[in-house]
Amino acid sequence: MDNIENKVIVITGASSGLGEASAKALSAKGAIIVLAARRLERINALVEEFSKNGKKALAVQTDVTNFTQMQSLIEEAVKKFGKIDVLLNNAGIMPSTPMMDCDVTTWNQVINVNINGVLNGIAAVLPYFKEQKSGHIINVSSVAAHKIGKGSGIYSATKTAVRAISEGLRMEAKDYNIRTTIISPGVIDTELPNASGVPDQLTKQFYQAVAIPADSFARVIEFAISQPEEVDINEILFRPTRQEY
Ligand SMILES: NC(=O)c1ccc[n+]([C@@H]2O[C@H](COP(=O)([O-])OP(=O)(O)OC[C@H]3O[C@@H](n4cnc5c(N)ncnc54)[C@H](OP(=O)(O)O)[C@@H]3O)[C@@H](O)[C@H]2O)c1
Repeated sequence: MDNIENKVIVITGASSGLGEASAKALSAKGAIIVLAARRLERINALVEEFSKNGKKALAVQTDVTNFTQMQSLIEEAVKKFGKIDVLLNNAGIMPSTPMMDCDVTTWNQVINVNINGVLNGIAAVLPYFKEQKSGHIINVSSVAAHKIGKGSGIYSATKTAVRAISEGLRMEAKDYNIRTTIISPGVIDTELPNASGVPDQLTKQFYQAVAIPADSFARVIEFAISQPEEVDINEILFRPTRQEY
């Protein structure tokens, strides 16, 4: 694929799953990757791996819910590499949140990471993109923004918000030559169902039966990024072939 080499790509949630797979695939194609996550040792290890392969990369410990940290991430990327071409707003969580449990603390966590995290990324990078008169913001939504499952109303709500935010941004960003993409994956084999404690049995079984590898997501990201500047891929929804939901 053309148009990926030497692009500076900031990826949140780069320490595992879809973010890690994208970082590896894009680095292999010659992109300069700025990896953000809370688990510093994991993103440092990836930088080391990329450097051994002769590729440039930087790890910045970042909590996406903290706007100051998101601003520092963007500043460090620009300071080190002189520009940013793409922000992949990928960090997200999916703890079990049945409405009947009324676990408001967990609901707020999901809202904070999945919605405010994305908004923080947008607000941190937009000043640079506006000045550059170019840039590409990719926001990770989900099939859960298109289908609502019993027990996942809160998660679906956050991923629906990501779609609404991205579409609103798309229209406003036109004046600045900024591109916006929503990627809505189906079930992919990552730490997502396990990361926030013990997954409920149904989710675990569903993932075991249906999930496809994370490189499927990386290929979709490559497709969106590799388009010529005049082409704006706005939305992609994809699933495992065997996934009905
Ligand atoms: N896998 C799927 O089936 C699927 C389907 C549709 C959509 N998605 C979406 O894809 C995205 C990536 O998820 P994944 O499947 O790759 O899951 P994952 O393996 O659990 O990865 C989630 C990533 O988000 C990061 N993260 C979580 N909270 C964070 C915070 N407060 N600040 C910074 N980073 C944070 C984690 O890093 P640290 O813990 O190190 O901070 C980790 O790198 C999420 O937005 C998810 O909703 C996934």
